[in-house]
Amino acid sequence: MTKEGCTMGHSVAGQLRKARLDRKLNVNQAAKWASVTWRAWRAWESDAPSKRKPSPAALRLFFLRAGIPIPNDLREYLDPHRRSHVISITSSKGGVGKSPITVNVAACLAFKGMRVAIITDDAVYRSMVSAGEGPEANSLVSAVDIYDLRDVVIHPSEAKNLAKKIDRDLEACPDKEIAHLYLREDIDTLKRKQQSVHTLDNLKQKYDYLLLDVKYDFKLLKDNCDIIAVIVDSYCVLSVRAARRFIDRLKGEPSRKKLPKIFSLLTRYDIGGQSRELVEFLGDRKDISPEVFEKLRNERYQRYRYRECIFRKIMELPIPPLSVRLTSAHDVVIDNFNEEKSIWEGYCYFHSLLDIAPHSPAAAECMSLTEELIDMRL
Ligand SMILES: Nc1ncnc2c1ncn2[C@@H]1O[C@H](COP(=O)(O)OP(=O)(O)O)[C@@H](O)[C@H]1O
Ligand SMILES: [Mg+2]
Repeated sequence: MTKEGCTMGHSVAGQLRKARLDRKLNVNQAAKWASVTWRAWRAWESDAPSKRKPSPAALRLFFLRAGIPIPNDLREYLDPHRRSHVISITSSKGGVGKSPITVNVAACLAFKGMRVAIITDDAVYRSMVSAGEGPEANSLVSAVDIYDLRDVVIHPSEAKNLAKKIDRDLEACPDKEIAHLYLREDIDTLKRKQQSVHTLDNLKQKYDYLLLDVKYDFKLLKDNCDIIAVIVDSYCVLSVRAARRFIDRLKGEPSRKKLPKIFSLLTRYDIGGQSRELVEFLGDRKDISPEVFEKLRNERYQRYRYRECIFRKIMELPIPPLSVRLTSAHDVVIDNFNEEKSIWEGYCYFHSLLDIAPHSPAAAECMSLTEELIDMRL
């Protein structure tokens, strides 16, 4: 978009007139708040082709002094270099915490006053939404807009390409009834994409941060992310392999865009850790037989060696680790939260650690992670 007009089709002049009238100001007052002459303001509000374009600095002053939130349609005009930062905390392995960590980071960004949205293809989220569930009112998660990936047009030819694919698949299958059943998800997605009012480009203008909680869509991630944090569970060698595969797939994906910055994000980072009880037990060796002591000691070092081996493999990945590492601190918070709750009320997609345990070490970890991700984009 240029300074000549706004993306949503409303002229800058129209937006200014509307903002002024909504606030019940006359031209003189508005001009004073913008620190310009009334003639200048009147020219800015005029739709007539004029050489006088409003000064973004003066308009920012006007909105600030009038206490009017800057209309979304004017944001880019006022700050043409601003755009949303797109981050994905992801992995090609399931169940490693993509969704909860993404929601937690989003809640931290909302806490910092950022406009933030998540685009997700998470199955649990979808089933909760279809059951009519959502975040609790006034929670930080309720300040995050969450979009289903099926409702966002990622690039203009998307629906057309999907329609072609469905036609090809239908054609190739002799039993049309089975084909329809098999393609049900694609057909549903196509309908939603065709009716969608959200495009990724629009969302990028609307938010300071967009978080992509999506899996397997390497093209989407490579074309759109500024930062990708690949989750690596430091207890699980499979997750290291999954991270390596993820990096290879991402590198292999053709794209004309600049490669996003990629980092590993270590979770369950309790290397060498063990329960306090076990330390005490080992310290108090008088009470245990030499065989049991030997067994415990071997277990301890075996486990340690295993974890050191995984850690070495993580460091051999061709991407640097984020400095912030997440521990298992969230487990305690979540277990505590879930205690005596039915399965339907327990920790879910719409909860954040910052909402349920703002003073926990787990919430502090998420805040540090968020701060590191914000710094990275600079
Ligand atoms: N830092 C973390 N905060 C919250 N949950 C986490 C964290 N690290 C790992 N998890 C784990 O993530 C699991 C849930 O993740 P899930 O929604 O299945 O992941 P994904 O979205 O990757 O499929 C939980 O078992 C939870 O313990
Ligand atoms: Mg998920």
